[in-house]
Amino acid sequence: MIKKCLFPVAGYGTRFLPATKAMPKEMLPIVNKPLVQYGVEEAVEAGMDEICFVTGRGKQALEDHFDISYELEHQIAGTGKEELLTHIRDLIERATFSYTRQNAMKGLGHAILMGRRLVGDAPFGVVLADDLCLNEGGEGVLAQMARLYRQFRCSIVAVMEVPKERISSYGVIAGEAVSDNIIRVTSMVEKPPAEEAPSNLAVIGRYILTPDIFDIIEQTPPGKNGEVQITDALLTQARESCVMAYRFEGRRFDCGSVPGFVEATNYCFEHLYSASED
Ligand code: UTP
Repeated sequence: MIKKCLFPVAGYGTRFLPATKAMPKEMLPIVNKPLVQYGVEEAVEAGMDEICFVTGRGKQALEDHFDISYELEHQIAGTGKEELLTHIRDLIERATFSYTRQNAMKGLGHAILMGRRLVGDAPFGVVLADDLCLNEGGEGVLAQMARLYRQFRCSIVAVMEVPKERISSYGVIAGEAVSDNIIRVTSMVEKPPAEEAPSNLAVIGRYILTPDIFDIIEQTPPGKNGEVQITDALLTQARESCVMAYRFEGRRFDCGSVPGFVEATNYCFEHLYSASED
């Protein structure tokens, strides 16, 4: 059973400036719930109730969100509004939250490495909270991946098909099909030009990683944009042992971009937000 889930949240969220000048991007709400809460709910649903954040400067609001707010809760106690906090209170009771810092923005691979002490020596999940994954009425994406982990016992990356004109924004994999939805990774490249992409399968922000990845990241030199790329470390792991790519069931919204964020907001308002919550 995978218990820990790492949330690298140290990025600046420059695409959302000025909104993210003094507020973490992960606290931007999709309707009435911050992005990060969707991610934590998905992790807890998958059985990963030890939540580890790799934060940076200016991310205090994240810590406060996963804590009691005495004054506010006292204020609304006994009123109809109390139930609006029921869900987050349950989450806080069910999970534990730990924090460490990445004090220089050296890339996602480096951010994950900074989580090593929190994660320890066991397989763990990784959620990039700005990728919102929903599978209404079905199993969450991380839960689907945890199930696959039990079968393959190796690192797993979530992938989806992306049109050619957008593939250069992603890590892209290629490999041998194991079944309709599972591919054994043989090639992986970060943000390739469209004509050099090995396939149309893009890695999105959900991973299950085995702990040997930490030593591999340590040996991985900075790659694209001078950042330590998790994609490069995963390619090494794929060559030395095994990495599976999984075409998940559900929808993914790129909430790190304004159009994706708006699309997610409209979708959630229509499908998840009930009028009774007004
Ligand atoms: P992004 O590059 O999409 O996020 O990184 P960003 O830098 O916050 O956003 P923009 O591009 O400036 O708008 C993907 C994820 O990896 C984390 C980010 O927090 C985000 O969740 N990350 C990235 C880190 O934690 N540390 C890093 O050094 C880089």
